Amino acid sequence: MCGVFGIIFQKERSDLGQILLEAAKRLTYRGYDSVGVATVSKDGSCELRKDVGTVEEVNAKYKFHELSGFKGIAQLRWATFGVPMQKNAQPHYDCDKDMVGAHNGNIVNTIELKKMFVQEGHTVRGDNDGEMVVHAIEKYYDEFGNMDTAIRKGAEILKGDYACVITRIDDDKMYCVKQGSSLYLGIGDGFVCASSDLPSIIPLTKRIVPLKDGEYVEFTFDRYEIRHIESGEKINRVPQVMDISAEAATKAGYPHFMLKEIYEQPERIHALLEYLKFDTNLMKYVNTLAKSRYTYLVGSGTSYHACVIGSYFFARMASKAVFPCEAGRFLENFGSTLSKEDTIVLVSQSGETKDAINILNACEGKAKILSLVNVVGSTIMMRSSLNIPLCCDLEISVPATKTFMNQILTFYYLAAKMSEESEYMEITKRLPELVKQSLELATSQIEELLQDDIDFSDMYVLGYGITHGLALEGALKIKEVVYNHCEGMYSSEFKHGPLSIVKEGYPIVFVTHDSQARMILSHINEVTCRNGLAIAVTNESSEIESNVHKVIRYPDCHAILPPFLGLPALQLFAYYLAVKMGNDPDLPRNLSKTITVD
Ligand code: F6R
Repeated sequence: MCGVFGIIFQKERSDLGQILLEAAKRLTYRGYDSVGVATVSKDGSCELRKDVGTVEEVNAKYKFHELSGFKGIAQLRWATFGVPMQKNAQPHYDCDKDMVGAHNGNIVNTIELKKMFVQEGHTVRGDNDGEMVVHAIEKYYDEFGNMDTAIRKGAEILKGDYACVITRIDDDKMYCVKQGSSLYLGIGDGFVCASSDLPSIIPLTKRIVPLKDGEYVEFTFDRYEIRHIESGEKINRVPQVMDISAEAATKAGYPHFMLKEIYEQPERIHALLEYLKFDTNLMKYVNTLAKSRYTYLVGSGTSYHACVIGSYFFARMASKAVFPCEAGRFLENFGSTLSKEDTIVLVSQSGETKDAINILNACEGKAKILSLVNVVGSTIMMRSSLNIPLCCDLEISVPATKTFMNQILTFYYLAAKMSEESEYMEITKRLPELVKQSLELATSQIEELLQDDIDFSDMYVLGYGITHGLALEGALKIKEVVYNHCEGMYSSEFKHGPLSIVKEGYPIVFVTHDSQARMILSHINEVTCRNGLAIAVTNESSEIESNVHKVIRYPDCHAILPPFLGLPALQLFAYYLAVKMGNDPDLPRNLSKTITVD
């Protein structure tokens, strides 16, 4: 996945480079192998600067902030086609340097296209798929002489999912195309911009036009025209004002977005609970699930772990069996069994994850598709029949934190609505305060734990029943930012093989609650009697505490709440351990926040 941003003003701006640099910084979480900017001036000159490295590194060398012009494009690259090197960094020129463009996504027929363009006499400078987008549009511009036809014909030969921004050097227009990867327009006072994601637009304007797959836009500084790529038909869509604070795109004094987003959780829980109270579609959502023959909760990574916990909530609270499934596995496993009586709930922070979009593409019309999504206007949100927004504002750090919290809260709320027990709904009122206490309690205990001389380079996180999905999520968070081996597992399963790894001092975290003492004590003792080091994340429980070496306590709570209250300890453990190791938790190596590839 990559990030692309383009903006056009009426007049020459001496701060255009600075604006592009800021936008690039805000899209860094989407790619950090290479970065580049192109600026175009009214006199017909174009400046293209790009290289391998982070935004800061490349800017230090090429001084993006000194560039001026009236329109420009910035791109952040997360390499898929072409090794990270200067010629593969984006944006790219066409052959004669009278067009410049960049993309986000994956052109799967890049190798064939490159061969064809070379045979046709194009000057292809690198191996990057973004360059093929530019040559495809150039090919048809040279033949038909206008950008509309060039974009539409170009789309016919570009196979894969992508979004792109492209401009000619000699006019006052810019174009963008959405074909399977995220893209938004921002409508400002005296400018129009297009970007892969909202963090780069929101500080400039909150007037957003979400785009749909199969659409392209011609825009100038004061107008935009959306058209269907296939039919060429014009589409009227007015901007929505997005209720997202510009503050969300800043660290607000925190050293990392990850820490800020972890600490925002009580406030985000409150926002979601307020939203759900007045959501007019909520009972429609609940009834669809209640009547469904088979219900699947489907997501990837962290979003999948929320589905694992959601399945416990529905079973325990509403006696409804629902099945969690990884998005990448769903079609292979259940695709052939679906009927119109079945419901798929797609769970995603970004609303753009390819593994989940494949399900949308294959299952629309075959089963009901609902969703829980954070990014308003994203593909999954727009294409599902009912959606609940996660109300988390922007989540910028690559590791998902607050969106996981609100994913599990949404499942909890739906299960509580489905259940006959009023107590479940009642206890949500205290949740923001309990999570706040849990954060406060965890911070000092984690700092203390990390001062001990424990080797965490290899470890397990085990959970049981309601804490199973939490253990999976804790382990993912740790391995993602610490770069160690850390496995999450159902605690009863540990003795069926993995136990052989235990030796003196080997760390195993048990995520539990005093209601699980009878069972979890056996699992703990299987480890401690082999000299393993047991750490419990638990509410107060003398039984559990006396059987482990270290304890991280969360506030006392109902036996259904451990996923909410145990989570901060695991997130903070991952965060502080990553920082101790010298890693940047916001930008873990090799990762990207939105995975728009298979
Ligand atoms: C882990 C993480 C990833 C995402 C996964 C799905 O912290 O962020 O595992 O959860 O890539 O992304 P979404 O939720 O955007 O579909």
